[in-house]
Amino acid sequence: MKTIIVNGSPRKNGNCAKVAELFAATLEKEGIETELLQIGSMDISGCRGCWACAKTGRCVQDDADFHEAAEKIYEADGLFVAAPVYYDSMPGQLKSFLDRLFFQDRGGGGLRRKVGAACSVQRRTGGVALLDDIYHFMICAGMIIAPSEGESMVFGLEPGEVMADQEGLDILEGTAGNMAWLMKMMETTKEMLPPPELKKRAQTNFIRQGGLCDDD
Ligand SMILES: Cc1cc2nc3c(=O)[nH]c(=O)nc-3n(C[C@H](O)[C@H](O)[C@H](O)COP(=O)(O)O)c2cc1C
Repeated sequence: MKTIIVNGSPRKNGNCAKVAELFAATLEKEGIETELLQIGSMDISGCRGCWACAKTGRCVQDDADFHEAAEKIYEADGLFVAAPVYYDSMPGQLKSFLDRLFFQDRGGGGLRRKVGAACSVQRRTGGVALLDDIYHFMICAGMIIAPSEGESMVFGLEPGEVMADQEGLDILEGTAGNMAWLMKMMETTKEMLPPPELKKRAQTNFIRQGGLCDDD
């Protein structure tokens, strides 16, 4: 089993890198393979809102970095996102990546019922809002969020400062342990207890019969 670890910070060696490293170490100790993707410093442009991927399952933008990273995530069993808080939200590069990663997979099952977790990294404020943002991507995709038993966030400004936030690091280690446990439980029971079939559901745009956007 494998978990992809996303570093959502443009700083390759900052606090998110420490979080990613510690999270990966706990997973590896539990027998889960990990791979780091340095998404925050990739040059990834945002979703164009063309809706083409809703029909094809693939974003029309042909940036190899994006598609390569997305494939690795769809093939893995788990996804962990370490993200810095920028103005109580996430950096633009990470938002561009997540919008496209999750939107092109709508209905495709590349993310459905995979285990997800996240950790926000901030100097002082915005962690709760950022975690909500990331968890909502995961919820919409039908992912299973690993319990963190405390808010999954650590505090620090300069690279490495998070190492002094002992409570945050303890919560992080607990989340990684829970993620490994969930992944192993799902693997062990997959024959015995297959997931329920997905019912086809109506699409309504609140009050009207819904459909895909046919603007362009
Ligand atoms: C553009 C920008 C905006 C930021 N906004 C916030 C913020 O709203 N709240 C906060 O607590 N820290 C904020 N920070 C501080 C970072 O979250 C903090 O330095 C964090 O450790 C960065 O993680 P990294 O070292 O992995 O890049 C901001 C930093 C930058 C560069």
